[in-house]
Amino acid sequence: MIRFLFLLFALISAAQAQDLDQFLRAEMNRFLMSSPQTIERPATEILVLGHELFRDRQLSGNDNISCHDCHHPMIGTGDGISLAIGEGGSFVGRARTQDQGLIVARHSPHLINLGHKENFEMFWDARVRIDRRTKELITPEEKLKDHPEITKHLDSALAAQTIFPILSPEEMRGKPGSNPLANLSDSIEIWDAVISKLKKTNAPNSKSYVELFNNAFPGEQHNAGHMGKAMASFIGWRFQVNNTPFDRYLGGDNQALSASEKQGLKVFMGKGRCAVCHHGQLLTNQMLMNVAVPPLHTNEASVDRGFRGRFAFKTPGLRNVAKTAPYMHNGVFQTLEEVIEHYDNVPQSLRTFVPSEQTHLPYQSRLIRADDPEILQDIEDDLIQPFLRRGLGLSQEEKSNLLNFLKISLTSP
Ligand code: HEC
Ligand code: HEC
Repeated sequence: MIRFLFLLFALISAAQAQDLDQFLRAEMNRFLMSSPQTIERPATEILVLGHELFRDRQLSGNDNISCHDCHHPMIGTGDGISLAIGEGGSFVGRARTQDQGLIVARHSPHLINLGHKENFEMFWDARVRIDRRTKELITPEEKLKDHPEITKHLDSALAAQTIFPILSPEEMRGKPGSNPLANLSDSIEIWDAVISKLKKTNAPNSKSYVELFNNAFPGEQHNAGHMGKAMASFIGWRFQVNNTPFDRYLGGDNQALSASEKQGLKVFMGKGRCAVCHHGQLLTNQMLMNVAVPPLHTNEASVDRGFRGRFAFKTPGLRNVAKTAPYMHNGVFQTLEEVIEHYDNVPQSLRTFVPSEQTHLPYQSRLIRADDPEILQDIEDDLIQPFLRRGLGLSQEEKSNLLNFLKISLTSP
C-alpha cells in the first residue's frame, strides 16, 4: 500500500514538473527568449590584431592602462569595483586602488554578447549608437562625419565605441602635460598619433604592429576605423556566452535546470516582472530605462542623470551576471541579493539602501550616496513601470529561487 502511494505521488509530481516545463516554455516564447546565435569567427588576422590592441597598455598616453584592465576576462569582462579607476591607478580587479588615478564617473560594464547586430546602443547613456531608423552613426565626435575613410570600417555601434576610451583623459589618455597624446586636442589627430606610436613598437605577442595591421588589413592606409573594427571583432567573438544551463533549457533539455532554478525562472518572467525589460535572445530590451538605482558618485561630481537627464540607463544583458559584480551604472550593489532586494521595493531601496563598506575601499575619499530628498523624488517620479513603484512583494522563497536562476542557470561553465 505504501509503495502504491509512493508511486502515485511520484507520478503526480512528474506530471506537475511536466506542466511547469510546458508553462515555462510558453512564457519564454512569449518573451522571445532564445539562445544567442553563435557569432561567426572573424578572420584570424583581424582577431589577433583586436586581441593585441585590447590588452596593450601602449594604447594609453602613459603606457599604464589597457582595455583589459577595466574589462578583464577573469572578472566577467568588468573590473570588480563600483566606479572605474582610470589611468594612474594600480592593480587589477578588486585589488585596484586609486593612487594617482582619476575616477571615471561610471561603473565598467561587462562586454558579454555585444557582438550581436541588435546592440545598437553603447555606453550606459547610449552616447555612441546607430539610429535604428536612419542607420546613421551617432557619436560625441561630430568630426567623424567628415571622415568616411574611418567610419566605413565602423560597421557596428560596438566598433565605434571601442575607439573612444583612447580619447578620454581619465580612462586612457592621461592628464594634460603628462605625455604627447594628452597634449593633443583634435580627436582625429589623437587616433592617428596612437596608430603612429603603435607602428613604432611591438605588440604584447612580440609581433610588430606594422605587420599586425598589414596582415589584418593589407594594402590600406590604417586609421581609427581599422582599430575599431579589429577590437569589436575580438570582443564580439571572444566574449560571447551561449552555453549556460539556461541555454540548454532553451534548447529543450528539461534536466538543465533544478526545480528551484525553474521556480526562479517563473518568478523572473512572472511576479518579478524582470522579463518586461530583460527579454529576447540577449535578455535585454536594448533600451534605456530608469529603475531608480540609488545614486552614488564621487566627491567632485553630482548625481548622474543618465540618458536625456531622465535617470535612464542601458538595460544590460544578464548572461554570466554572477561573474560581473558589482552591478548597475554606478556599481552601487555588490551582490545579486542586493539587486533583488532593490527590485522588490524600489522606492524604499532608492531612499534607504546603504552601500557596503567594500564599495568605498578602492578610492582615496569615500563615494557619496546621494540623499537629497528632491532629487530622490525626481528619480522616483521618472519611474515608468507602476510595478516598480508599488513593490513586487516577493516571499523569501521566491527571492532565493530567483537568485538561483540568476546565479546558476545564467552562468556558463
Ligand atoms: C578606466 C577603465 C576603462 C578602460 C581603460 C576602458 N574602459 Fe570601456 N568602459 C569603462 C566604463 C566606465 C564604461 C561605461 C562608461 C559610460 O557609460 O559612460 C565603459 C564602456 C565600454 C563599452 C560599452 C559597453 C556597453 O554595453 O555599452 C565598451 C564596448 C567598452 N567600454 C570597451 C572598451 C575598450 C575596447 C577599451 C580599450 C580601448 C576600453 N573599454 C577601455 C571603463 C573602461
Ligand atoms: C523597467 C525595466 C527593468 C526591469 C523591470 C528590470 N530590469 Fe534589471 N535592469 C534594467 C536596467 C535599465 C538596468 C541598469 C540600470 C542602471 O544601471 O541604472 C538593469 C540592471 C540589472 C542588473 C545589473 C546588471 C549589471 O550588469 O550591472 C541585474 C542583475 C538586473 N537588472 C536584474 C533584474 C531582475 C532580477 C529583475 C526582476 C526582479 C529586473 N532586473 C527587472 C532594466 C530593468
